[in-house]
Amino acid sequence: MVMRRSENDPAKRLGQVGIADRHLRPKVHVDPDRSRSWLRRVLPVLGAHRLSLSGALGMSFLTLMLQVQIPSLLNGAVSNSLERHSTPLDHYVWIVFGLALGAGLAGFGSRYLLMRTAYAVEFDLRNLLYEHLTRMGFDFYDRVQSGQLISRANSDIRSVNLYLTFGPNILVQCSIAIVAFIYMLTINVPLAFVAMSTLPFVFWLSIRMRASMFPVSWLIQARLAEVATVVDENVNGVRVVKSFTAEQRELDHLAREAAKLRWAYIRDADLRARFSPVVQNLPQLGMAFVLLIGGLLVIDDHLGVGAILAFSIYIVMLQAPFQMLGMLVMLGQRAAASAQRIYEILDEEPSVRDAPDAIDLPEVRGEVRFDHVNFHYGADADDHPDGTAASAAHSPLGAAVAGPPVLSDFNLHLAPGETVAMVGRTASGKSTVSRLLTRFYDVTGGAITIDGHDLRTLTLQSVRRHVGVVLDEPFLFSVSIAANIAYGAPDASREAIVAAARAAGADEFISALPDGYDTVVGERGYTLSGGQRQRVAIARTLLVNPPVLILDDATSAVDVQVEQAIHEGLKVLMAGRTTLIVAHRLSTIHLADRVVLLDGGRIVAEGTHAELMESTPLYGEVLAQVAENEPSGAPA
Ligand SMILES: Nc1ncnc2c1ncn2[C@@H]1O[C@H](COP(=O)(O)OP(=O)(O)OP(=O)(O)O)[C@@H](O)[C@H]1O
Ligand SMILES: [Mg+2]
Repeated sequence: MVMRRSENDPAKRLGQVGIADRHLRPKVHVDPDRSRSWLRRVLPVLGAHRLSLSGALGMSFLTLMLQVQIPSLLNGAVSNSLERHSTPLDHYVWIVFGLALGAGLAGFGSRYLLMRTAYAVEFDLRNLLYEHLTRMGFDFYDRVQSGQLISRANSDIRSVNLYLTFGPNILVQCSIAIVAFIYMLTINVPLAFVAMSTLPFVFWLSIRMRASMFPVSWLIQARLAEVATVVDENVNGVRVVKSFTAEQRELDHLAREAAKLRWAYIRDADLRARFSPVVQNLPQLGMAFVLLIGGLLVIDDHLGVGAILAFSIYIVMLQAPFQMLGMLVMLGQRAAASAQRIYEILDEEPSVRDAPDAIDLPEVRGEVRFDHVNFHYGADADDHPDGTAASAAHSPLGAAVAGPPVLSDFNLHLAPGETVAMVGRTASGKSTVSRLLTRFYDVTGGAITIDGHDLRTLTLQSVRRHVGVVLDEPFLFSVSIAANIAYGAPDASREAIVAAARAAGADEFISALPDGYDTVVGERGYTLSGGQRQRVAIARTLLVNPPVLILDDATSAVDVQVEQAIHEGLKVLMAGRTTLIVAHRLSTIHLADRVVLLDGGRIVAEGTHAELMESTPLYGEVLAQVAENEPSGAPA
């Protein structure tokens, strides 16, 4: 029989529960005061769920209160029903039955509420972290490995969450020891002390365990992240790995990291193996004491047999919470280590962010000015003028390293609607100029203005909405081509998408694909050729229709004929738009009103192509260099 897939698919059958398709800004926060303990800092997150958490704890307490009466009732049943026959047995049976039923129901409620709280806290923490990551600047991602971020967002959040939600529950369970102790006192005072005598040792051992296990927990988390980083790089860099047949080397690399992780885990197991059996078996020792002392009391007729039964059950009952107390200590170690690793991320301030009084530019004419701009990468490593070093300089995630100056006293003016080509040797800083104009990084000196507004006085959103950039390495998402083109304008109509593709010279090849615009591209767009990717990326930026457009080597991977087609489309679109083209080809340069030559971190010459050929030998050299890579080199 053929089953329909939808019936078979558990995801479809169960449906999606509680998934909102919009990210809601997390309402919670982590205390930014770094001098506080990790637990104090995360309390606001727990506080947001105090209702369900206290409900869970209350129910948990109720469960235990019901359970704790049972041994004492058994004592009564043995004495009153079995020995003295003063109370009918079914009296006790019904009460125990009722208590068990009540405890079962309350147990359900407490577990359900506790898990609910746990997942809500995990959800909040993860959102908090992701939201912070989206605010971080490019310098952060330059420095931090994505494997580190992934492991912190997964295993570290989980271990903090476990401790936060199960910790209080374990404490509640231990608090029941007091109630049990009171019950035991009502039966027999000396025996109650004998029964409880081993518990302080359990606690003391837990503390000892804490001291020795903490460094290992930290090591495990750190090494998990390192393994994740190797795996991540191998998956993303699989094409490089395979083309250099470096599989074996990478496997060795992974094996080395995995062996380090294994060492830490074994160390952890070793410590646990030393402590756990002692912690677990101490209560049995208590049982032996109870049997000895209690037995003597029974023989001397000071105590009923039922009391020994009740005490034994109490000791078994207390065993679990006190063992869990040991686990709590262990969870605490791991949570403290994990929280520290999460705070390392949360405590990093984004280097590029909205000023408190940043304004939104509704409309832009497109006048761009670079005014005595200085720039070098890793500016966070610099000491700030007020003497305080920026957070990134000492970040455990990877310290910022101040690079050499890339731009120094860089001046450039683009009139509204003007198209300027920027030419320069490789690594002269051309891409850097475009990254500064989109405010991926802040200048380290001077200023960049749009329509006279310093970029730093505008909201990031308005800068990036008005300045469109086609990066030199186009990144596509694994969605349809249409969705990739519409990335910046998700509501765009199909006509607008096709028009943008046409202008970017991409319509022809897209239409030839089996699914046309609905073709889903592979991860990062790897199922398209480099030139095809570039054209999709151009269409994506054109669709947003930004008044200032930067094309950073955007047509480097297409041949001259295709480039010609793109230029036809661009000529129309560039009209009225301020455009900065990073150019390597003469054909591209001809699109521009003016050419500037970048060298040594500043503009050293500018003019038309012919003027520069005439006046500046370096310009000819740079172009000749490029022309060598260009067999079909456009005519000079
Ligand atoms: N994220 C970064 N962190 C640190 N240094 C960087 C970073 N990006 C670029 N650099 C350095 O800045 C300098 C300028 O790089 P840039 O990418 O701007 O050159 P380019 O002119 O675009 O070169 P190409 O023509 O090869 O694309 C180079 O020396 C480079 O090593
Ligand atoms: Mg570049």
